[in-house]
Amino acid sequence: MAILVTGGAGYIGSHTCVELLNAGYEIVVLDNFINSKPEAIKRISEITGQSFKSYNIDLLDEKKVNEIFLENAIEAVIHFAGLKAVGESVYLPLRYYHNNITGTLVLCETMKKYNVKKLVFSSSATVYGMPGKFPISEDFPLEALNPYGRTKLMIEEILHDLYVSDNSWSVALLRYFNPIGAHDSGLIGEDPNGIPNNLMPYITQVAVGKLEELNVFGNQYPTKDGSGVRDYIHVVDLAAGHLKALQKVSNSTGVEAYNLGTGKGYSVLEMVSAFEKASGKKVPYKIVEARPGDAAVCYADPVKAKQELKWAAVKNINEMCKDSWRWQVNNPNGYDNKIEVFQSPH
Ligand code: WQD
Repeated sequence: MAILVTGGAGYIGSHTCVELLNAGYEIVVLDNFINSKPEAIKRISEITGQSFKSYNIDLLDEKKVNEIFLENAIEAVIHFAGLKAVGESVYLPLRYYHNNITGTLVLCETMKKYNVKKLVFSSSATVYGMPGKFPISEDFPLEALNPYGRTKLMIEEILHDLYVSDNSWSVALLRYFNPIGAHDSGLIGEDPNGIPNNLMPYITQVAVGKLEELNVFGNQYPTKDGSGVRDYIHVVDLAAGHLKALQKVSNSTGVEAYNLGTGKGYSVLEMVSAFEKASGKKVPYKIVEARPGDAAVCYADPVKAKQELKWAAVKNINEMCKDSWRWQVNNPNGYDNKIEVFQSPH
């Protein structure tokens, strides 16, 4: 029996595949490589010494998705596949709704057809909108502030409705806070297309000399140093949370949401200092205007995952920074083999 991992070549998907294989699971990966590279699939095998089936298909291709379930004895699904750029979703809402929602509907219809009703869904803390109080627990009101976040919220609601219609479903909704870091082999990691939107890949590209300096989006927030505070969590801890959620959905029915965060917030300027200490590299930065739509503070109350999944993040901010840096240094151009010529580090 195998675990189907949709989006298994992506940042969190690839790290979860490594943990699944290391734990003895058989996996099947589905990925359309729109936001990932086939090289990541090879690296997963290199790290684990194990091979597995992967299909280069789009979840929107119902016929091909059906073939995966026909050809493989799937027992459960971990569903990462989806577009995830907040800013882009504002300009391309129809693409985000079609890709994320319709793709999930095709997946669930096919799962139902083959009586596979155990699902771990990659949700996001973005479904909390801007709560204005902290730490954030799963019973907080839900509110989406952009089309990307709305797709996550809509999918959570669709999965709740699915369970109401058929109580044999078992679903875990995993709400990620801010994943950073990389597997300590330095072989897999975050590989953003173009200029990174997220803080850590931007920092590592400044440190390696690919980008000139970090723009700190505002220092007038009501925080200790004025810069934004987030709950950064090591991607390997996040992957481990998926295995615990898989165990939970394998032994119960129902739909439950879980925050996957550390419960501790760090400001942007604290992250810069932590990274400089961990890497030994300077990260030049300048303070610029706050980014529209950014919350001042966002960090998790992870107690529900601790109690019900027996999971807690264990890696500290220094490990997160060191592992992010090792990935960047080993892979200056991510999974692309071509080496771009760029300014040598300062
Ligand atoms: C973190 C902090 C920025 C870049 C996003 C998505 C969220 C989730 C995680 C998918 C903030 C500051 C950032 C930069 C900066 N993704 N920053 N300069 O916005 O918390 O969450 O990624 O689920 O849905 O919204 O992450 O890394 O963009 O920002 O100062 O160049 O770093 O203002 O305080 P965010 P982020």
